[in-house]
Amino acid sequence: MNAPRRAPDVPLPRRMDFEFDDAIPKWWFADNPVATAVANGLHLVFPEGERFFIRSVKHYMSALQDDPALLARIQGFFAQESLHGREHGHSFKLLERQGFDVQRFLDFYERKWLPRIERAAPAVVCLAGTAALEHLTAALGESALTEDFLDDAHPTFRALLRWHAAEEIEHKSVAYDVFQRVSGSYGIRVLGMALGLAGLMFFWTVASRDLLKQEGLSRAEVRTHARAIRQRRQDHTRKVLVRAVTQYLRPSFHPDDNDNYHLAETYLRQVGRLTA
Ligand SMILES: [Fe+2]
Ligand SMILES: [Fe+2]
Repeated sequence: MNAPRRAPDVPLPRRMDFEFDDAIPKWWFADNPVATAVANGLHLVFPEGERFFIRSVKHYMSALQDDPALLARIQGFFAQESLHGREHGHSFKLLERQGFDVQRFLDFYERKWLPRIERAAPAVVCLAGTAALEHLTAALGESALTEDFLDDAHPTFRALLRWHAAEEIEHKSVAYDVFQRVSGSYGIRVLGMALGLAGLMFFWTVASRDLLKQEGLSRAEVRTHARAIRQRRQDHTRKVLVRAVTQYLRPSFHPDDNDNYHLAETYLRQVGRLTA
């Protein structure tokens, strides 16, 4: 096994200002309404999800005052996540101009259920959920940078998703290191993965289905478009998540065991944003 690489000391925030203009087609992903609804569903989940990650880690900052290096990485993580939420949030306006009601899902997710879950779950479980979801977003990020499925996306969304993917890799170990510092319990770590994964899949599915329903397609049309996605091998998300969860269950796991920082570095250098 290769020696694990360490995370960059401080993840750098990069303000991108993507333009989601009306030249972007409604079915911007592979000219396919199912693929586009699934991708747009993830956009709807991201911003509040990332604010939840920030709140989960912020809760423990007073306990980490003796570790300035970790505190600096946390600040970089906060800055990156809030810019991710901002950019994905900008794409909501495009969805609205395309005729989608996004507020219905956002009310369900951001106003109703996520606050209830957050109030009911102990802070350490929220943190464990964040650490687990950060591992999953880094795994999805690796696949976005190494596989060619995003070649079928509109260039603006492709750039958004690959920039986000690269930064998810850059800060993948921050929440995990905070969790190890304040708890380190394997049982809570696994519980965080179970709840985090279930929450992600639930809200992502509800958002995607809501958007797809608004397309007004027949069942037969949806089936045909879904078959086209499978044929283009754009349904590999499940495989990526299963592999990532299996890795996470190893008691000695650390995000840096997966040597992929160079993927983020290569992409960011390629788009001229390595140094922000
Ligand atoms: Fe993010
Ligand atoms: Fe993240």
